[in-house]
Amino acid sequence: MPDSLVLASTVAVVTGASSGIGEATALALAEQGATVALVARRAQRLERLAERIASVGPTPLAIAADLTDAAQPPRVMSEVVAKAGRIDVLVNNAGVMLLGPIVGAPLEEWERMIDVNVRALLHCAHAALPHLLAAAEQGPRNVADLVNVSSVAGRKINNGSGVYNLTKHGVGAFSESLRQEITRRHVRVGLIEPGAVETELVGHNRPEILEDLASRPGLGSPMQARDISDAILYMVTRPRHVAINEILIRPTDQER
Ligand SMILES: NC(=O)c1ccc[n+]([C@@H]2O[C@H](COP(=O)([O-])OP(=O)(O)OC[C@H]3O[C@@H](n4cnc5c(N)ncnc54)[C@H](OP(=O)(O)O)[C@@H]3O)[C@@H](O)[C@H]2O)c1
Repeated sequence: MPDSLVLASTVAVVTGASSGIGEATALALAEQGATVALVARRAQRLERLAERIASVGPTPLAIAADLTDAAQPPRVMSEVVAKAGRIDVLVNNAGVMLLGPIVGAPLEEWERMIDVNVRALLHCAHAALPHLLAAAEQGPRNVADLVNVSSVAGRKINNGSGVYNLTKHGVGAFSESLRQEITRRHVRVGLIEPGAVETELVGHNRPEILEDLASRPGLGSPMQARDISDAILYMVTRPRHVAINEILIRPTDQER
């Protein structure tokens, strides 16, 4: 791998790497020379992606884990450090979006969103932070990055998205507090807030919710996962003295 690549000799962990934005981000970071740890539950998807990445960048690690199990985030980060030596970048991307009215909602859906979007994200940050702080004190970059993937829903509240809104607003609040705490130690905390992106995310909703969503105007033509990985790559490849704290990114024709 040429040393001229901007992420050469760095190690990045991407959660939710088995599809969508996480998959595109893992590829983008690897193309810039990072050794990427791919984390999600679907092991076969991770293995297939690892094969693709091995032809464009350093050999990645595929680590199957359900991040809602509190034992998994520390196990994952320890395995990454044991095998790759360090963690320079964490992209906290794994998430679920289960929409619909609050009245009568299946509580299991709320619990899944809180478990993945909030609890797993917090546990991954907690387990990775000592390693990010250590990486920021060392070459090759003397800076480290924690990127949390939120959503337009982390800023804008809609009828039918109450608990998803709650989780993503929480991600934004946590990110800003953490940023203030560690930025002087050169760990940058960045928040990505995408609008509609064509991925598997919406497909996990109940059929009646999908029908309702299809009848709602205003979302425009969705972006592609690569549009978001471009933004994440931009964020983590700035010079050491520049921190991009937040990127809100919508399809041009998305009104809400
Ligand atoms: N698509 C959009 O329009 C959009 C808009 C704004 C924000 N976002 C955010 O972008 C992020 C990525 O979503 P996406 O659109 O790329 O959707 P996606 O294709 O459904 O990807 C979600 C990823 O999360 C992983 N995941 C879910 N539960 C997990 C668990 N318990 N443990 C580990 N990994 C888990 C999934 O992998 P496994 O199923 O293999 O575990 C998958 O790789 C999410 O945080 C989402 O809220 C998306």
